[in-house]
Amino acid sequence: MPTTSSNPHLPFGENKQAEWYGKDIISVKQFSRNDLEYVFGVAHEMRGMVERVGTFDLLKGKILANLFYEPSTRTSSSFTAAMERLGGSVIPINEVKYSSVSKGESLPDTIRTLECYADVIVLRHPETGSAAIAAKAAKKPVINAGDGVGEHPTQALLDAFTIMEELGRLNTLTVTMLGDLKYGRTVHSLARLLSQFSNIRLNYVSPEILKMPKEVMDEVAEKGVPQAEFSSLENVLPETDVLYVTRVQKERFEDPADYEKVKSAYVIDPEVMKAAKKEMAVLHPLPRVTEISMDFDDDPRAAYFRQMEYGLYVRMALLAMVLGKA
Ligand code: NCD
Repeated sequence: MPTTSSNPHLPFGENKQAEWYGKDIISVKQFSRNDLEYVFGVAHEMRGMVERVGTFDLLKGKILANLFYEPSTRTSSSFTAAMERLGGSVIPINEVKYSSVSKGESLPDTIRTLECYADVIVLRHPETGSAAIAAKAAKKPVINAGDGVGEHPTQALLDAFTIMEELGRLNTLTVTMLGDLKYGRTVHSLARLLSQFSNIRLNYVSPEILKMPKEVMDEVAEKGVPQAEFSSLENVLPETDVLYVTRVQKERFEDPADYEKVKSAYVIDPEVMKAAKKEMAVLHPLPRVTEISMDFDDDPRAAYFRQMEYGLYVRMALLAMVLGKA
């Protein structure tokens, strides 16, 4: 796969192919600005290849173990599609209750097992830090597909790729994150990732009990990115270039009564969006519950369905990178 010659995004000085071969992808913190541009360049190439030929043999003979301890539609199926479009194959383990996990097998043992059969492991797990534990146990690359409320690096990469493809830039943007910023792992990763770019302003709009964790805000502040917190969207919507909406993460609440209080805190609909710019993008990692009205789906600014498709190209790029073929 050529990655540099016809790529309009960037010429790369370093040998990224060697750099990412065999690596785990655990956190967005592993990606320098240069790495990010490389991933987006490769993803862009992947998009072109899928549009031209659909499926090709870059990873022929390679096997991915897709190990999901939490529900997933998009992440799991887009990794499967990514591997198969690259000519590889997949061991799907979506229902860990039918695997030896239900017999009490530890995560490191399950990982050691799967790497006997697969070349790369994608892991989603309810505990923060689980991806790092798995990566320590494995010799083969482990890709974090969401570790509890920790990180979701491949989602943040596809979110940023979406912004790039939709608005043509990742610099000079006002990004407003809305909803469950406490438990939403995608916003933890995305805020960190965006802090690498220049002239970024981050607004966080959430109920009081679902504010962005201090740890994430401190890391972003260290990069010199201005951040501001709000309880209402009204004042920040008109200046927003990217509105990143999230689902209130019901499954992570200790007290169901707290969930009931905040579950419908914000709803994006055509009326609300009258106050937004004409040229901006609304993203959502999905699944949505009630936070974006279906009436808004046909608006050109509604980018969340295209965002899912971009996820395929980004995950193709990441698989090719860690398997030494990008
Ligand atoms: C997200 C997740 O699992 O963190 N979904 C996804 O991967 N697209 C967001 C969510 O579940 O709300």
